Order: sequence, then C-alpha cells, then structure tokens
Amino acid sequence: MVDIAENGRTWLLTGPTSGYALHLTEEHELLHLHWGPRIALADAEALAVRPLPGYRPFESPLDGREEYPVEGGPRFVRPALSVRTDERRGTEWAFEAYDTEGDELRLRFRDDAVSLTLHYRMRGDVVERWVTVGNEGHARVELLRADAATWTLPDRDGWRLSQLHGRWAAESLLTSAPLTYGDKVIGSRRGHTGHQHLPWVALHTDAGEEHGEVYGCALGWSGSWRIAVSQLPDARVQITGGAGYDDSGLLTLAPGESYTTPVFAGLWSDGGFGGASRAWHAYQRAHVVPDADRDRPVLFNSWEATTFDISEEQQATLARRAAAIGVELFVVDDGWFGARTSDRAGLGDWTPNPDRFPNGLKPLADYVHALGMQFGIWVEPEMVNPDSDLYRAHPDWVQYQFGRKRTEFRNQLVLNLAREDVQEHLWQQLDGLLSSAPVDYVKWDFNRCFTDAGWPGEPYPQRLWVDHVRAFYALLDRLRAAHPGVAFESCSGGGGRIDLGVMSRTDQVWTSDNTDPLDRLAIQHGFSQIHPARVMAAWVTDSPNTQLNGRVSSLRFRFVSAMAGVLGVGGDLSEWTEEELAEARQWVELYKEIRPVVQHGDLYRLRPPEGGLSAVQYTLGDESVVLAWLQAQRYGEPVPAVRLRGLDPAASYECRETGEVHRGAVLLHHGLDTGLRGDLDATVVRLRRI
Ligand code: DGJ
Repeated sequence: MVDIAENGRTWLLTGPTSGYALHLTEEHELLHLHWGPRIALADAEALAVRPLPGYRPFESPLDGREEYPVEGGPRFVRPALSVRTDERRGTEWAFEAYDTEGDELRLRFRDDAVSLTLHYRMRGDVVERWVTVGNEGHARVELLRADAATWTLPDRDGWRLSQLHGRWAAESLLTSAPLTYGDKVIGSRRGHTGHQHLPWVALHTDAGEEHGEVYGCALGWSGSWRIAVSQLPDARVQITGGAGYDDSGLLTLAPGESYTTPVFAGLWSDGGFGGASRAWHAYQRAHVVPDADRDRPVLFNSWEATTFDISEEQQATLARRAAAIGVELFVVDDGWFGARTSDRAGLGDWTPNPDRFPNGLKPLADYVHALGMQFGIWVEPEMVNPDSDLYRAHPDWVQYQFGRKRTEFRNQLVLNLAREDVQEHLWQQLDGLLSSAPVDYVKWDFNRCFTDAGWPGEPYPQRLWVDHVRAFYALLDRLRAAHPGVAFESCSGGGGRIDLGVMSRTDQVWTSDNTDPLDRLAIQHGFSQIHPARVMAAWVTDSPNTQLNGRVSSLRFRFVSAMAGVLGVGGDLSEWTEEELAEARQWVELYKEIRPVVQHGDLYRLRPPEGGLSAVQYTLGDESVVLAWLQAQRYGEPVPAVRLRGLDPAASYECRETGEVHRGAVLLHHGLDTGLRGDLDATVVRLRRI
C-alpha cells in the first residue's frame, strides 16, 4: 500500500509489519525518512519537517540522507548514478512527477536529456527498488554506473554486518563482524554471481536468531555485481548495490534507449535472523520463484555416479534402481552430447553422442517415463570447448580480446551471448533439443568465470557484461514460454549463480558441488538466511565421499542432511547393496511425507551447525518436522534437548515416530529429546498438533 501526503511530496509504503517513507524537498532533494516498523503518514510527515543538519565545513547535509545519491553537486558519498555525456559528467536532476500503479510507486526526474525513474514496490515486508535511466536526447549517454538502489539505515550504535561468503564447494558461509568507518565492498567481477558471495547483506546491532532488528538487502542479478556498505563520517550507514563491479562503464544509451537496473530488495524485520529469513522465504515463494506452490520432485542425478563415462544402457540401469527407491525425476548429467567423453571436448555441440545414444535421447526418456519418473538433462549453453564443431565453425563467437591469448578454464571458453547470432543459435539448439525428446527438466550449468571479456569490432565492448546476462535471461524466458512443462535448475559449478534474478526464472538451484553431508549443514545454514528450502537442491551421495574428503557417514546421516531441502540422490546406485537400497526407499518415502512442510513451511533454525548438535524445524499448519544432526558426542555427556519454536504453548503435539504426546509449552521451554548419540547421528521427528 502507498500513502501520499496531501502536498504530494511525502510517500509511505506499508507492509504487514513494516513501513518505508521518503520525502521530496522544495529543492528537488529526495530524502530518506524511515525504514522500520509500521508508521502512520502523520509520522512520516513529522519526520519530513525535521531540519537537515546545519552547515559544517567539509560535510554535505545531504550525505547519508538521500534515497539515490547521484554524482555531482554537494555530495561526497559513493554515487549510485554516474552518467557521462559528450558535454559533462554527473547529474543535476529536477523532479517531474510521481505516479502509482497498483502497489508500485514511481518518481520521475530529469536532467536535460536524461530521464530517471525510481521504482518502489512493497511485497510482503520486502521493499523492491529499481531504477530506469532513459536517453531522451539526440546524443549518446554513457552510464558509468547505475545502481539499483541506495538503502539508508537509522542511527544506531554498533552496527554489525553479516554476509555469505565462500568459494567453490564451500558456498554461502555465514560470517558477521562489526562495521567500521569507510566502505565494505562485496561483489563479483567474474561475469556471474559467483561462489565468493551471495548478493545479500544483513545489518544489525543486537539481533539474535529470534529477536532484534535485522536489515537485509539482496540483489537480483546474475552477472557481475557490487554491494557497498558505507559507514559515513557521522556513523550513518548506507548500502548501495547494482549490476557491474566497477564504475568504469556499464552501457551506453543511444537516443531513445533506456536501461532498467535489476531489483535490489530490502527487508526490515524485528524477528531476528530467523524472522528475517522467514520473511525472505515467504517473499520468494509468493513473488519470485515460478510455481513455488508446487512440490519439487525427488531427483536422481548421474554426475557423481558416472561422471563423463555414460551410456544409454548404464543410465537405464541406474534409472531402474532410482525408480525402485521412489525417485520421481531422473537427470542425466554431463557427457550425453557431442564428443563429450571428458571435459576437454564437445561443449557447444548439443546433439546426443551417437556412440552413446544411437537413437538420440528419446528411447531413454521414454524408458524413464515408463518407469514412472520425469526425465531431465544437463546443459551448459553459454560455453564452448575449443575442441568442438561449434568452435571450429565460429571461433569468433567467444569472448576474446583482439590479438590476445584466449584463457581457458576447465578447457572451455565463454560464448559471447551479447551477439545476436549467438543468441539465435542457442535458441535453435535448445528449442530443438527440448522438442526432440520428452524432456521435463533442464539442469543449466555455467562452469567458468569471464576472463577475456572482449568483443573485437564492437565500439563499446564492455556492454557484453550486462548484455550477456540479459541474453541469458531472455533465452530462459523464451524457453520457459515455449516449453511450459519444463522445469529448470540453475547451477554454476554448484552455487556460483544463485540470486533473486535467476531464481525468478528457475525452479530450483544446485546449492553446492560439496555433497558431504556434514559440510552441507553449514552451507545450508548460510543459504537459508535468504533462500527457502523449496529451491535448495541437496543430494545423498556415496560414502566414503568421493568428491571431496573421503568422509564416511551413514545413509541415515546423509539422507537427513539432504532432506532439509529438495531431496536428490546422486550416489552410484548400481553399487548400493540391497539393504542400502531398501533403507534408501524408506527415507525417500519419509521425505515425501514431510515434503510439504519442508518445502512450503516456515523454517526455524533451532541450533546452528557450529556446535556438536544442530537442528532445524519446519512448520506448516498443524504439522512440524524437526531434523537434527549430531556431529560428535563428547565426554559421554548427554546430548541436550532441542527447544522448538513456532508452536502453541497451550496445545499438545503427537510425535509420529514414537506416538508420545508432548505439551507445546514443554517443547518450547524445555525441549525435545532427540535420542541422538555417538558420531554423525541424525534424526527426523514429525509432530502433529492434536
Ligand atoms: C558442475 C556441476 O556443479 C556438477 O553437478 C556437474 O553437473 C558438473 N558440472 C558436470 O560437468
């Protein structure tokens, strides 16, 4: 809901628990007023008449107070917008008008030929912000930087910054530290979201898991990006973010062209990290993730079982075993196409390898369907191996710098998706592929960062950074529209492309290539700060863990770890014993029972993964599910009971595993005995209100 003051200069957006207000002065300064609990329009108006700080030499009264600080004029903060024309640099805008459409508020400004529209929309308690910059003149306008939003925090002592950092196989690890003066910058200059940071920050002072104020900001962009958290000289804090890492040139706008930034979303919660996460999850399920009300099926993925060494018969054997344990979607990973018998060749040639699939993919897809499962395949469309028919035919279709070596990672180069011929080629290939066999699911991978991001012959080659992402999105959108029954997974060597942008056009994401069930608990803990279990794919793989560390763990521990998200199986089922398969079948059955609660319920992180005992709880209506893991029991100490959340203290709950009836107040205040013991133990407890 948007409330507007009578003078048309103060605006208030209101969500279920929060409010956001801004004000335009007579001098065309757009000031931030409020972001926090719900307030009345009269409160916003009272804030609007508070004077700005008086004159101080060397300081600007606007700094730290503007909604969208531009370059130029009396400002020294990091500009969200930096524009250059043939005549000058910077912006001196004048307010033109505002309008609303549904729950979206738009404020329009102009600086000569450059138009600027600030967009605001409240969805739940998440404020979505983005900006459109247009060139309405006759000459070229260069956007050196155009951030999506600047967020302003209220004055508080002792801000702390939480972020999700990582690297390949160790993504989304939560860390928190005091904020200090100056700029803290996170981002990616790799062309994709990156494993190094999820585009999310949270600012807080004394918040805990279930109490205190948390301000979160998350960017919806799958290319290079930057979020800068700045503590200004007077200790005020602003957070600015958008596409691109540097300020050295994003795009040029020809006359009549415009650029719309990605959405930079902000959320205020006074429910601590848990409350903030639940609000982010609800927002994504309601407004971001396609078909989020549908359950995601239990999948099998062939990668860890068979890597590049695959054949139709061998996949059919795996499919039979997968179907027998209750898998619902069978995905053939890398190695089915072109000359792809290792990572050295074949990328780019999206036709089935005739030695491996002599009659194409259809016979296997039909077989999988006959077994009662959906059929999925792996692709990595944005890449090419130099040893491929595609590259031999079009060596100029890749990103490269004129006269320079073409850097290879994993023996592959990045296609220049900014080129229209490349876009059209990929559309033809992928549309053809999805039409040639009954494919229900596409795992879309991206296995190397940009390095030589050049485009010889193009006058403004750096536009390929933005245009690559736009083309990737457009291709996904077009494929989804043409093949509405096909679901997509975003993968980038594990979690290298996870953000709100890709999330709005994919059904789930591959969280990490790290399938070790213990490491996964920390990765999933971080992931859950922002994204819901409904999109978090997790596989049960072999023990000892073949990918990373050789750790030995029980099937029980592996399953309960993976059941915290969208369950998958990625082990070599042809090597599993009859007993293991029988046990796996029971776990899959149990998962299907708890799936609605896990995938659509509210998450409570009961105990973090650092301690010996960790646990999460999902609640939906009268049902609760607790997943608990014990890393190692020490000194013969009894394992502590786990205090539950989100229950009615006056109600009673029946444990479906034991038949015992527990009082809500007891579970909330004294906890649930999980019965865990020894090393790497795990359990699932289902509770139903009676
Ligand atoms: C990286 C992905 O994260 C893996 O799951 C697998 O699909 C490989 N690529 C295949 O090359």
